[in-house]
Amino acid sequence: MTNPRISPALDEQARAILRGNDRGGYTVPTDGLYPYQWNWDSAFAAWGFATFDLDRAWTELDTLFSAQWDDGMVPHIIFHKPDPGYFPGPDVWGTGKSPETSGISQPPVAATMARLILDIDAQAGRDRIAALYPKMLAWHRWWRDYRCGSGVVAITHPWESGRDNCPDWDIGMRNVDGSNVGEYTRRDTGHVDPSMRPGKADYDRYIAMVQFGRECGWDQAEIVKNGPFLMADPGITFILLRAHDDLAAMGRTLGHDVSEIEGWAADLRAAVPSIWNAETRGYDARDLKTGRFSGRIGSAAFLAYLAGVESPELDVRMTELWDAVRYGFPSADPASADFDPRRYWRGPSWPVVNALMAIGLKDRGHHAAAERLRRETAELIEAHGFFEYFDPIDGTPCGGDAFTWTAAIWLTWAGLAADTKGGA
Ligand code: DGY
Repeated sequence: MTNPRISPALDEQARAILRGNDRGGYTVPTDGLYPYQWNWDSAFAAWGFATFDLDRAWTELDTLFSAQWDDGMVPHIIFHKPDPGYFPGPDVWGTGKSPETSGISQPPVAATMARLILDIDAQAGRDRIAALYPKMLAWHRWWRDYRCGSGVVAITHPWESGRDNCPDWDIGMRNVDGSNVGEYTRRDTGHVDPSMRPGKADYDRYIAMVQFGRECGWDQAEIVKNGPFLMADPGITFILLRAHDDLAAMGRTLGHDVSEIEGWAADLRAAVPSIWNAETRGYDARDLKTGRFSGRIGSAAFLAYLAGVESPELDVRMTELWDAVRYGFPSADPASADFDPRRYWRGPSWPVVNALMAIGLKDRGHHAAAERLRRETAELIEAHGFFEYFDPIDGTPCGGDAFTWTAAIWLTWAGLAADTKGGA
């Protein structure tokens, strides 16, 4: 039985956005602002396509993994075709790959999305996942080899977290010298309201980190050891933990020995207590150069549910943050002085993070919370359309419009009339 839907008209608009942002085998996050293939955006796009075109869904993942580096990394941007509307482009990254790519990765949601897609039609997906499986395995091994030296997952650039300017990174960003990066012209602020984007001081430091990577030839071990920024990320830690479980489940179905993945997951799970900050009562980012916690709690802390990690204290903390706003989960703590409800990852509600949180909450039996998250996310999209993110207090739409992953999340989850049993 199919789940009842809120609005066939919005479903059609969402499908039109996915088709409109399709550049032939890959989907851009939105026209103009993000003109290339982005890693985790693409994985969500695949999930969205899977609601009406399974073949196209698998192709999205195939294209993403076609840019995998020899060491297993799947880069965060793939520059398929030149586009002057984005900065920093391939010339700034200088990775020398073909196709050209950035030199960092992004949250590894692909295995989790692949499993959701496979669940729709296991027969139709069997050959596709069989071909993708070794590539996903190599990518997960890359995270283990190059980013899990401290136990949990570290990032070497805020962009790697996907939550670019969230307050979690402020403590590590202070140590990055952005004063010598030279002149450059940002393009993002020509596409959307600059007050909704990261500030100039952040951008100078982002570019300084890219320059460091380029100068050392994107030697990942060197970037981890001597690069300007290294922080433990609760978001990717929980996402990877969940993705390990999903990859192992698919591997078992394919008849593979998955003990290596199970070992990675066990090690990662054992390290999770190292990012619990008793002062802020939450999972917190940590500057791995000094050992200090960021002292900030945001939505990433509550991706714990997605990884099957929970505690009564976490439930209380979730309610404290959530009840301070009206629409979906805030990306930063509304009680903190850093909270900025419309500036990118410093406060807004992101449909895509709401969806990941809801998957975790539902899996852990928190059905009412998962349904509240779906309903509040749906209200935003119904009232304003498929924007990138929203002010969680008054619902103001922010960032890019006609956004791929918001459309995908609508089709797979938010657009259900109610999600107490089925769905995401
Ligand atoms: C950007 O350019 O804003 C991206 O988030 C980097 O990945």
